[in-house]
Amino acid sequence: MTDNNVNINWFPGHMTKAKRKIADQIKLVDAVAEIVDARIPVSSRNPDIPELIGDKPHIVLFNKCDMADPEKTAEWISFYKNNGIPSIAVDSKSGKGVAEFKSLAKNTLADTLKKYKEKGMSGKALRIMVVGIPNVGKSSFINQLVGKAKAKVENRPGVTRGNQWFTVDSELELLDTPGVLWPKFDSQSVGEHLAITGAIADRILDTELLAMRLIEILKADYFQLVAARYGLSVLPDDNYDALCAIGKKRGMIIRGGEVDTLRAANMLLEELRNCKIGKITLEGVNFSA
Ligand code: G4P
Repeated sequence: MTDNNVNINWFPGHMTKAKRKIADQIKLVDAVAEIVDARIPVSSRNPDIPELIGDKPHIVLFNKCDMADPEKTAEWISFYKNNGIPSIAVDSKSGKGVAEFKSLAKNTLADTLKKYKEKGMSGKALRIMVVGIPNVGKSSFINQLVGKAKAKVENRPGVTRGNQWFTVDSELELLDTPGVLWPKFDSQSVGEHLAITGAIADRILDTELLAMRLIEILKADYFQLVAARYGLSVLPDDNYDALCAIGKKRGMIIRGGEVDTLRAANMLLEELRNCKIGKITLEGVNFSA
């Protein structure tokens, strides 16, 4: 992911408008499917979603599961299930988990289907609103479910799509989020994790600092992967020194023998985003923003 960084300006006015629209449209649906990025399941959430959803049935989709740590994704799914929220791992690039979503939705909404039947509305399709902050893969997921001809993936999330209904089959209809949702702004770690995964432009943050944050997580949870990728048997305790060690291994030396840490940082972030280091999840179930 290179030029796909989200560059939307979230203004309080836009946010209030989007929130009102969602609150209004949510009345039209039977459930809400919330898409999060499986690598950052906390930071890729909109903080107002639980309040907006209220008592409606809620399904969480851990998208981009192909890039996330499968063990951590499984822990997240159990965590949500234990809290009464059905959830599923999805890879909207290959389509994995997309068909399962249909059965999960229909099972979750069995009571609603029963009610429709009792009221003589047996043929009524279930309606689900799909919500997610930009870049979690909402368009890709809808494309997979509905078919490419009907939903367009847009590289600049939020710029194009308006209110849109999609027919999946005779039993299921999707409503795309009316408006653009935002992440939790007031948390530094949220901003950092979004930038590390490439969901927001990293040029607004210090690249070396981001790389050092990433190294901190990698050292704690994925040391073996880093060691294998960069041919290092130990990583210095200090994150800057660790970045230097990685850069040195890649021959990123500038005049005077110093490591080009900016280049090393960019390389490390790029390799993470392209899944070269391995399947990595930055936020486990104990993470809080
Ligand atoms: P959005 O509507 O939520 O804003 O997101 P969108 O579907 O546009 O997806 C954002 C980027 O994430 C796209 O990459 C898309 O291909 C990628 N993506 C979406 N779902 C998955 C997934 O499950 N796995 C993986 N690996 N990637 C996913 P892009 O760089 O903009 O384009 P491209 O790589 O498709 O060319």
